[in-house]
Amino acid sequence: MEEALIRVRGLTRRYLVGQQEVRALDGVDLDVARGEFVALVGPSGSGKSTLLNLIGGLDRPSSGHIHVADIELGAAGDNQLVRYRRENIGFIFQSFNLLAVRSAVENVETPLMLAEVKPKERRQRALQLLESVGLAARAHHKPNELSGGEMQRVAVARSLANRPLLLLADEPTGNLDSKTGSGILDLLRDAVASQGVTLVLVTHDMQVAGYADRIVHMLDGRIQRIEQKTHAMQKPGPLPESESESEPVLAPEAARESA
Ligand SMILES: Nc1ncnc2c1ncn2[C@@H]1O[C@H](COP(=O)(O)OP(=O)(O)O)[C@@H](O)[C@H]1O
Ligand SMILES: [Mg+2]
Repeated sequence: MEEALIRVRGLTRRYLVGQQEVRALDGVDLDVARGEFVALVGPSGSGKSTLLNLIGGLDRPSSGHIHVADIELGAAGDNQLVRYRRENIGFIFQSFNLLAVRSAVENVETPLMLAEVKPKERRQRALQLLESVGLAARAHHKPNELSGGEMQRVAVARSLANRPLLLLADEPTGNLDSKTGSGILDLLRDAVASQGVTLVLVTHDMQVAGYADRIVHMLDGRIQRIEQKTHAMQKPGPLPESESESEPVLAPEAARESA
């Protein structure tokens, strides 16, 4: 089997709040393969964002290990983490996090500026990305001239600008109605399928989680169980009985026995 892109072992993250210790993560083991789409689900406070932020190098573990590609994030220096994020990660947040004074195309260009891509090339790439998310006509609009769904499309385009290995999305459809949210999830899944990017998405919504190849259920800072979907590329929603993801009613051995 190909080595996992993300390898998490015995991961903990504790906070001291006054005298009280909060175990935001309490011993998590998880592997994510390259090109996989994994959803982290669980109630509010179960540790989903904490895990995502650790994978993204935005935070550091209290103990345990996180390897992404060849980098041990817990042992990386600050500069190494900055570089890790810039070169490998695309982030998508619930609140879009666009720069208000910059146009859509300038927002998409931001990671390319940080990567020192030349102005003409980065403009061209940013416009292509906006076109790929259906926003060619909004390139010169500022965020306050866009709808929520359009802002999140800009954020998706921005997250893909540096051709990241890994997309990390924290409740990306949390501020959107379900139809607009489905459009965003389709875009993200297309990126996984067509560009081989790996996607880890946090949600409390099982309908959203249904888009993923694998669903990791979290509770109280731990992984409770992991659900594997057999039809990874199948759209969620009602499927004919024979194509649903469930096991065959009779396993082959059982069928032989009963024959
Ligand atoms: N900076 C912090 N200081 C103290 N406690 C925190 C901090 N960040 C998160 N927590 C706590 O850690 C737990 C997990 O939080 P979080 O990962 O944000 O959960 P989720 O994203 O699943 O809602 C919660 O109990 C939360 O209150
Ligand atoms: Mg959260």
